[in-house]
Amino acid sequence: MAAGETIILGIETSCDETAAALVRRNAQGKGTLLSNVVLSQIKDHAPYGGVVPEIAARIHITHLDRLVAQSVKDAGLTFDNLSAVAATAGPGLLGGLLVGLTQGKAIAMAKNIPFLAINHLEGHALTPRLLDECPFPYLLLLISGGHTQFQLVEGIGRYKRLGTTIDDALGEAFDKVAKLLGLGYPGGPRVEAYARRGDMKRFDFPRPLKGRPDCNFSFSGLKTAVRETVQDLGALREQDVADVCASFEHAVAETLADRLARVFGIFREIHPTVAVPALIVAGGVAANQSLRGVFERMSAKHGFKLHVPPFNLCTDNAAMIAWAGAERLALGLVDDVGFAARPRWPLDSVSAPVYGYGRLGTKV
Ligand code: KG4
Ligand code: ZN
Repeated sequence: MAAGETIILGIETSCDETAAALVRRNAQGKGTLLSNVVLSQIKDHAPYGGVVPEIAARIHITHLDRLVAQSVKDAGLTFDNLSAVAATAGPGLLGGLLVGLTQGKAIAMAKNIPFLAINHLEGHALTPRLLDECPFPYLLLLISGGHTQFQLVEGIGRYKRLGTTIDDALGEAFDKVAKLLGLGYPGGPRVEAYARRGDMKRFDFPRPLKGRPDCNFSFSGLKTAVRETVQDLGALREQDVADVCASFEHAVAETLADRLARVFGIFREIHPTVAVPALIVAGGVAANQSLRGVFERMSAKHGFKLHVPPFNLCTDNAAMIAWAGAERLALGLVDDVGFAARPRWPLDSVSAPVYGYGRLGTKV
């Protein structure tokens, strides 16, 4: 290992992906992905139409050991080569978090190396820096099944939440619309496929919170409007399904465009001297091609540089956890093995109380 270089094992078990990965960080701060193993539990939860926490935790327990060993082997290394272990400590489902944290702590103790408890959202926020040079500050839009938020990323551990959902996450809204239409789980890709063949002007669904001066989101009213439309239609023809999907996706696209215009303005107010700031879009919903068109159009219009990580690093993975660990380790920000899981763990502890805790659940 070269001087100043570190090799970090990352573990991710906060939701329905069991994942392990190794990254290397050199003395100049450049990252290299050495291995990346992800076991998706989608098919195990599909019969229930969503993630069942107990089932997720059991699958994590069953497979994590093997996946961690696989990630070390894939990198062509042994546990003796590790500089530190990083595991997701929150936010997420408690049972799964405990599985990953316990495994990570055990390896760190057995090998007598530092342990890092990582905030899953920080993993998403720092991913672009594993792939490329991406100087602070930049803007993150995270849109997944569990999260919908804008974060201003100013440094390691320095985040400002500029907006969040006040009810459903965006991926969750896609999944619920798919469920209403009988399209199965996960719904996002299926809604997108139907939307391509549909008429986006047929149904005038609401644009939630449009024109409001903040950057928050709300999707439950939109979901209700879709449900009422579907009920009114009665027996659905293929074309009805396609038109509902297209109209829903169009309402989401216009909502995102409205929020983006606002958040870009806020970024400029806070950091007026950054010539071409980056907008990073992460989370499963970033795979949606028509929404990606909105990100491209809006970024170009407002002078931001769009960066969407490749799909496997955009959705949940352990490479981002390992990388967040590498960045923290470089700053000496190691954690105690007594670190407890945090099912709710806002990235930005300053903004969080504004909206209160109970109502927003783990989505914040
Ligand atoms: O980031 P992710 O893989 O997992 C977590 O939620 O943590 O995101 C999954 C979400 C699901 O809600 C899924 O329906 C949505 O991302 N999704 C999409 C698309 N592909 C996945 N939503 C819209 N369009 C897509 N093409
Ligand atoms: Zn995630």
